[in-house]
Amino acid sequence: MNRTDFLRTLAGSSLAVGALTDRAFAGSSTGIIAETAPFKQAPLPYDFGALEPSIDKMTMEIHYGKHHAAYVKNLNDAVKGTEFEKKSLDEIIKSIGKAPAAIRNNGGGHWNHTFFWEVMGPKKSAAPTGAVADAINGQFGSFDKFKEEFGKAATTRFGSGWAWLVAKGGKLSVGSTPNQDNPLMDISDLKGTPILGLDVWEHAYYLHYQNKRPDYIKAFWDVVNWEKVAENLKKA
Ligand SMILES: [Fe+2]
Repeated sequence: MNRTDFLRTLAGSSLAVGALTDRAFAGSSTGIIAETAPFKQAPLPYDFGALEPSIDKMTMEIHYGKHHAAYVKNLNDAVKGTEFEKKSLDEIIKSIGKAPAAIRNNGGGHWNHTFFWEVMGPKKSAAPTGAVADAINGQFGSFDKFKEEFGKAATTRFGSGWAWLVAKGGKLSVGSTPNQDNPLMDISDLKGTPILGLDVWEHAYYLHYQNKRPDYIKAFWDVVNWEKVAENLKKA
């Protein structure tokens, strides 16, 4: 099944909310989802199989088409008729401490996955160049040292969560957040503007890697879209 067929099939399912829209991500200086409800899932910027062998096609189909789509549907259900209906997702995220758990989990889920798809891409260069390379080398000493620290954050996040490279006050740092929290949230221990993120929920890797999360993390470096990372750094 190719991507078009898959999306057609998906359109017939209850999780199809927004999956067929062509709306591009709306950029902002602090985040990436400036729209208000009803929230929609932007198209994946590449084919489901484009990240193989690092991330297999079926994982991407289920991850984007079921998990992410469900966060969007559940977020729309959760904000309906509440004060959050008129706020952009970026605004909701920044004051998430005031939101109920359904909005925190699904709003974070929508924001994080939208960000995640964009920082990956097929056949990307193995290492950053230019300003990102300079910033990483300046902060961590070398690209290898950065990968080691990011990998440690991703590996040691117990249970479900995300690993992040964030910028704050002109400095970079790595860390992780639990569940669907992210570093823009007011309740997060790790704070800053996300530059790069990695989903370490089992749904992101279990079909291909089973319990071997470190292998998934290692393979991630082959599909990082460093051009997008550079854009994120520039806006931070
Ligand atoms: Fe995920």
